Amino acid sequence: MSDFGVSFANLLRARFPYIYVGTWEEERVLGMIRDTARNAELVRTPRSVFTWSVTDGLVGPSAPAREICEAPLDALGFVARHADPAVFVFKDFHVFFGTDKREQDHTVVRKLRDLSTLLKNSPKPKNVVFLAPTVRLPLELEKEITVLEFDLPGVVEVRELLRGMIETNKRGGRLTVELGDADIDRFANAALGLTLHEAENAFARAMVKDARLSAADIESIYDEKRQIVRKTGIVEFVKSDVQIADVGGLENLKNWLKKRDKSWLEPAQKYGLPAPKGVLITGVPGCGKSLLAKAIGSAWQLPLLRLDVGRVFGMYIGMSEENIRSALRTAEAVAPSILWVDEIEKGFSRGGESDGGTSTRIFATFLTWMQEKVKPVFVIATANDISALPPEMLRKGRFDEIFFVDLPTRRERADIFSLHMKKKIKDAQVLGSLKITPEACAKLAEATEGFIGAEIEQVVVAALFEAYAESRALAWSDFGRAIKSTVPLSTTQAERIAEIRGWADKRAVRASEPDDVGAPQVGSAPRA
Ligand SMILES: Nc1ncnc2c1ncn2[C@@H]1O[C@H](COP(=O)(O)OP(=O)(O)O)[C@@H](O)[C@H]1O
Ligand SMILES: [Mg+2]
Repeated sequence: MSDFGVSFANLLRARFPYIYVGTWEEERVLGMIRDTARNAELVRTPRSVFTWSVTDGLVGPSAPAREICEAPLDALGFVARHADPAVFVFKDFHVFFGTDKREQDHTVVRKLRDLSTLLKNSPKPKNVVFLAPTVRLPLELEKEITVLEFDLPGVVEVRELLRGMIETNKRGGRLTVELGDADIDRFANAALGLTLHEAENAFARAMVKDARLSAADIESIYDEKRQIVRKTGIVEFVKSDVQIADVGGLENLKNWLKKRDKSWLEPAQKYGLPAPKGVLITGVPGCGKSLLAKAIGSAWQLPLLRLDVGRVFGMYIGMSEENIRSALRTAEAVAPSILWVDEIEKGFSRGGESDGGTSTRIFATFLTWMQEKVKPVFVIATANDISALPPEMLRKGRFDEIFFVDLPTRRERADIFSLHMKKKIKDAQVLGSLKITPEACAKLAEATEGFIGAEIEQVVVAALFEAYAESRALAWSDFGRAIKSTVPLSTTQAERIAEIRGWADKRAVRASEPDDVGAPQVGSAPRA
């Protein structure tokens, strides 16, 4: 029995009157509801399952109910009168709870309040399930309705689907299958994160292409998955080839992350380690926060999903809560995984009153998930302006650690220069007589006090342009000129950066040690 089935059975047994399941997978959830409600071992008293929709009215376990009751109030009346153990599944009933286009139907809501006492006390157990693609609770019923998460299908279910499809197609003589058991496992895993229906489409497409299914077709499953994940528009798979070695400096942070590599695997759990929750990386813009997040994906060899908080809010109002839920579910379905929330402050900042409390609710959903998640999803959140974040987000227990990325130190600047020069200059002729030595990089670092990583990268690019324009090899003077013509962010936004630093100094761990370790620092407490 699935997790959903078990939780659902518990709610039925405990006589919860209203259970709300938010999902697009109507058929799949209905199947599970039917299986569970009939199972005497799970629910003690087996119940028959009725469904209701505005188009079909009430449909009983084997045929339409004697009374069809297309009107919601009639249907609720039927529920009240029905004398036998039953589960009533109402499809899309949320529209009566009010949407941005439609007002709440007070009579329906009131009727549900009246009915709830009756359901709790009826001699034979009866429960009502609301099934809709989005979760929307009327205030009046908030205490009566229990929301139940419906997970995307797990690997066992997807594998079963795939095996079934292969059998059917083979029997029809339409398909040549060249897959071993291990391949089938890989296929099923590749389709995690999709609804069952989407997985079916993905498999079907892989099969019809050339009427054969071989190990190479796994790519088309990934493609399909990327398509679908793209369609939801909130999370996307990031294919990153950035390595940890491509990020200059940030040693403390890199070491911390290194210790957590593989800590979400089974051996670590057996050892007694808690699965890491995640890390919040804040600090000065353009200093490698996003770059490092991308690097962790490849270092840990886990799927990296980027959550676009801006987009979560961008869609029509009311959908957003379901959006964040579905994003979190996708990350869980492909776990172990990394969920990268870039520039988290853009979505979860304070002052969400203007949108009718939507951002507050989304934020609460996210925080609760962070606190309670059991699936190994490592969250990397990055933020430039952490002062905009609500304090709840920063409390212990949410993130394992909060790191502060400051302007790069001299050592780090040298490191970043060296990295970008080696990366960008591939042709020995361009380099001419220059040598990328530690001494040369140290000199450049000396001349770029206050530069952020992105500006250092720009200096290298600008120097290349200078030399290219004159059709000659690079000279150090090209770098000198580029440096002189740069007005660094730390100058133009000195105040803002001072603010960011002031905040982080007390609350966050430095991503790297300052150059003058051991020397007394003005205005900052020493840190372990
Ligand atoms: N520490 C660094 N090491 C190497 N490159 C860096 C570093 N910091 C910044 N860069 C360069 O600047 C670009 C922007 O940095 P990014 O990681 O997006 O900054 P942010 O901290 O604002 O997320 C990077 O793609 C990279 O090319
Ligand atoms: Mg960034």
